[in-house]
Parts: sequence; structure tokens; C-alpha cells
Amino acid sequence: MLTTAALALALIHFATPLAYYTYLKITWLNKPWNINRDPNYKPKVTVIVPTYNEAKFIEKKLEDIARQNYPKELLEIIVIDSASTDATPQTAKNWAQKTSLNVMVLEEPQRRGKAHALNTAFKHATGEIILITDADATWATQDTLQKAVTWLANPKVGAVTCLKKPARKGAAAVEQGYRDYYNTLRIAESKMWATPIFHGELAAFRRNLLQAIDGFPTDLGADDSHTATLIALKGYRAIAPEDLWSIEALPKEYHKWRVRRAQHLIQHFTRSLRLLRQAPKPFRKVLLIEAWLHLANPWLLVLAAFLLLATTLSGSLIALALLTLGALLLAYKPYRTWVTMQLYLMAAAVRNLKTKEIAWEKEAK
Ligand code: GDD
Ligand code: MN
Repeated sequence: MLTTAALALALIHFATPLAYYTYLKITWLNKPWNINRDPNYKPKVTVIVPTYNEAKFIEKKLEDIARQNYPKELLEIIVIDSASTDATPQTAKNWAQKTSLNVMVLEEPQRRGKAHALNTAFKHATGEIILITDADATWATQDTLQKAVTWLANPKVGAVTCLKKPARKGAAAVEQGYRDYYNTLRIAESKMWATPIFHGELAAFRRNLLQAIDGFPTDLGADDSHTATLIALKGYRAIAPEDLWSIEALPKEYHKWRVRRAQHLIQHFTRSLRLLRQAPKPFRKVLLIEAWLHLANPWLLVLAAFLLLATTLSGSLIALALLTLGALLLAYKPYRTWVTMQLYLMAAAVRNLKTKEIAWEKEAK
């Protein structure tokens, strides 16, 4: 009886994401976008780079932006630093002195998190498009910025983000497997209506929409995802197209980093669930299932394992066999990657009870 219950839980746990992934892949992934892009659309763009202790990356980051083939007179760069304890602001200022680009370096006297800093920068931004990018991320090509902007030529599109490739192998093997699954979801959800998961490596928003939602949310961690979701809830598309890529440096303390990011996603989905009724219909489905996958689904797995363990201890050989099978399957990478992700999500849910990690510790890279 308990063994059957455990099996049922495990089945729901694995079948839900698999069914969702398969549905998106078959029905949506290869559909045309039906968004007319205008390659000649050249609005003024403000690129905001939030920094906290990015001395190692900031120069390379600014060079990366400078390399973009977008008209210089239509580009404004704002570095917003929050009381870094290293040479970040000075390095940025030195760079600003040497370039012909329009660069502003702003400093907050106190660190109050990334979203708070973005709002400070937003007050100074004059672009029609506000594009956020993390200091430690590199864009895959010189036309990444320009391509991102052309999606916004369509007035229905309110927000655009990139897909991500990890910079190195190793711990990144897990990361890579996870990313393939994950990127497929992002693109297909975008084609459906919007994806509720955005990336700070490149997140572009229409200025007037940012204003309409009162700027970036400062009381939760996933400012990028939540901002995009709020814009999608207003009836705009928030998309991750397949032609925008960022390369991301992976931190040495990989597990801690994954837990913190999961914490932020949990905060984001918990909040978004409350707003579900406002969502355009196709987005409601996406939001509901993603919330399920991030908030509830992981727990079915532990519950199943727990039930099997209990029945094994009371002498059930079937339960023991199933538990052993579950453990042996860990040798199979996609399964291991999946289970690891569930562990991150559960650890994150528990950690959220203690801290929201709004101003997180800088991980070494
Ligand atoms: N100004 C400012 N103030 N910038 C900050 C602060 C802060 O308090 N905290 C972090 N940043 C900057 C970092 O310097 C970096 O440029 C960017 O925000 C992202 O921070 P990382 O430390 O690199 O975090 P990540 O790679 O895990 O970030 C990802 O997840 C976050 C949510 O968990 C990105 O997608 C972020 O954009 C996202 O907010
Ligand atoms: Mn980062």
C-alpha cells in the first residue's frame, strides 16, 4: 500500500516535467515566432551593469559592450556599484576616461542588493530600452545587443533575455546537461507567450513598462525573472529567443551558488502565483506548471524515498528493490542531474526560511 503510494508520487514527480518538456518540444519549439523584427529599429539603449566587487571582470565587461556593433550615439552605459570593497568603481572610472562611449559610473554608499542598485541607475537612464547585464557575463557575438533590440521593435514584446552557456567544463558537465533541457523550455515557453525565467546576463526591458511596474522589485532575489513576469502579466511578450547567447563564468563554490539561485527562483514563483489570475491565458499555464516544478514537485521525490525507506525497514523487499533501483540510476547522468536539481531546490526552500539572500556573498570565479 505504502509502496504503491511511493510509486505514484515518484511517477508524478518524473512524469510532470517530462510531459511538459515533451509537449513544449513537439508543439512549440519549432513553431515560427510570429513576431516581426525590424533590423532597422535603432532606439536609444541604456546598458546597466550592476557591480559588487567585480574588479576582476569589469574592464573585460566594458570592452565587451564597446565591441557591440550598435551606433555609439545611441548607446549609454551606466555602471552602478554598491560599495564594493575592491577597485571596481575606480577601474570603471578609469575605463570611462579613455573611451569615446557615453559611460556613467554611479556609486551607492551602501549595499542594498542588485535590484536596489538597478533602480538607482534607472533614475539616470535616458534610453528607451533598458538592458541589464551582469559584470561576469560575456555575450557570444558582436551583434548580440543589436539583435536583442530588434525583437523589441515589435510593440507587443516588452522584455527580451538571452540563453546561457557555461564557460568551462568539469562541474559544468552537470550544468551543461541541465542547460539543454532548460534552454528548450525557455524558447518554447517564449513562443507560447512568455518565459517566467529571465537571465541577468542580458535582460532588456521597455522603459515605459519598467516605469509602469515601479522599477525592479527589491524585496526578492530574482529581479530579472520577476520583472519580466510582471511585464508579461501586463499582456506583453517576455521572450528568450534562440539567437541570443551569453557565456557565464561558473563560480568555484558551485553548489552554494546553485542553492542561492534556486532560493531566488522560489521567491519569484511564490510571489507570481498570487498574480496568476491576471496572466494572459497561455502564460497562466506556463506559470502554473513552472511554479509547480519549482515549489512542489521536488518534495514528492523525498516523500517517495521516505515512504520506500519506511517500508523497507518494515521488511518489504519490493520497497528495497525500488530504493536500490533509484540509487543505481544515479549512475545515469540525466537522472543524476535532475535529482541534484531537486536537492538544490529543497535546500533552497529551507534556506529561504532563514535568509532571502538579497545581498548575497560574492562567489570567487
Ligand atoms: N550594484 C550592485 N549591488 N550589484 C550587485 C549587487 C549589489 O548589491 N549584488 C550583485 N551585484 C551584481 C554583480 O556584481 C553581478 O554583476 C550581478 O549583480 C550578478 O551577480 P552575481 O554575483 O554574478 O550572481 P549570479 O551570477 O548568480 O546572478 C544570477 O542570478 C541572480 C539571481 O539569483 C544573475 O542572473 C543575476 O542577474 C540574478 O540577479
Ligand atoms: Mn554571475
